[in-house]
Amino acid sequence: MITVIKIAIIGFGVIGRGVAEVLLEKKEEIQNRIGEYSIVAVCEKDGVAYNPDGLGWEVLKMKGGDFSEGSTVDIIETAEFDVAIEVTPTDIKKGEPGLTHISECLEKGSHVITSNKGPLVVAYSKLQELAERNEVQLMFEATVGGGMPLIKLVRNDLAGNEIDSIRGILNGTCNYILSRMESEKLTYNQVLTEAKELGIAEADPTYDVEGIDSAAKVVIIANALLNMDITYDDVEIEGITAITPEAFEVAMERDYTIRLIGEVSRETGSLKVSPRLISTHHPLAVTGTLNAVQIRTDLAKDIVVIGRGAGQKETSSAIISDLIEIFRK
Ligand SMILES: NC(=O)c1ccc[n+]([C@@H]2O[C@H](COP(=O)([O-])OP(=O)(O)OC[C@H]3O[C@@H](n4cnc5c(N)ncnc54)[C@H](OP(=O)(O)O)[C@@H]3O)[C@@H](O)[C@H]2O)c1
Repeated sequence: MITVIKIAIIGFGVIGRGVAEVLLEKKEEIQNRIGEYSIVAVCEKDGVAYNPDGLGWEVLKMKGGDFSEGSTVDIIETAEFDVAIEVTPTDIKKGEPGLTHISECLEKGSHVITSNKGPLVVAYSKLQELAERNEVQLMFEATVGGGMPLIKLVRNDLAGNEIDSIRGILNGTCNYILSRMESEKLTYNQVLTEAKELGIAEADPTYDVEGIDSAAKVVIIANALLNMDITYDDVEIEGITAITPEAFEVAMERDYTIRLIGEVSRETGSLKVSPRLISTHHPLAVTGTLNAVQIRTDLAKDIVVIGRGAGQKETSSAIISDLIEIFRK
């Protein structure tokens, strides 16, 4: 029986710090739902902070030299915690360093919550087996759609439905670029420059604009929600770099727009990410950095979810909801 839930945060960047802040700020509210908790460890790439009695607000001010020497792996091996929040950078080829962190945490009997797509893309079924064998949970709401609920919505609220297909806009950067090309009649390169200036696109936007990030999410959706057993190489991928203002003109004459759609369909066997024509009246025709997903089921028929696919507080929302799901009183 756990008296105080001990939390370790692995990766203390934008999301790690955001989650720590919410855990400290909304402590009373969250404790009402799951019981007492404390953050006992925070792991950065080059150092750690550990206090078995709990770290307080001071942890948010810590930077580089403030952390003690020690590695994440040392903390996983030696510290006592009930749940690890794994939020290190994504690598969808090897899944590291998250894959090692998550595997070792599950192996030692700790629940894991992650926003890191890489480990799930590379080894979803292996990690799920490890979680089951150790009687703990692996939760990953934040890997698809940031603050937009999808994983638990399908697993809990649509339980009993057969999921026929899930398709939609899974990358906010691409959606921003396409919707600005449409509304301002600008070229891809003009909007990309603007998106970089606004911090919406990374300096190297390849991961987003080539459809790689959306494809990683398609793999997670297929394996976790449609019980498939696919890998990244099974997804057909086309990004948005070749889309021209002329293509938008032709689409708009017919009341259509162009959006980058990720799709998993049991009916058609389709596993793909590609620019598609969408009626401007369709609920998936969202603008700006929004994400939107259409879930087609046998009983409830069509459900559409729209929300923010990234951001510090938005992604923290998904992580906190996973925490509450695991420890709900
Ligand atoms: N930002 C979002 O809106 C968002 C939304 C959904 C999902 N995600 C995913 O969430 C994860 C975290 O994103 P983020 O935006 O917080 O990234 P971030 O700001 O780059 O933070 C990641 C942190 O992990 C640290 N790190 C690297 N290797 C580590 C190790 N071995 N042990 C402990 N810490 C290590 C990094 O340190 P260094 O900087 O020194 O390398 C960095 O501080 C990523 O996988 C991302 O794809 C992010």
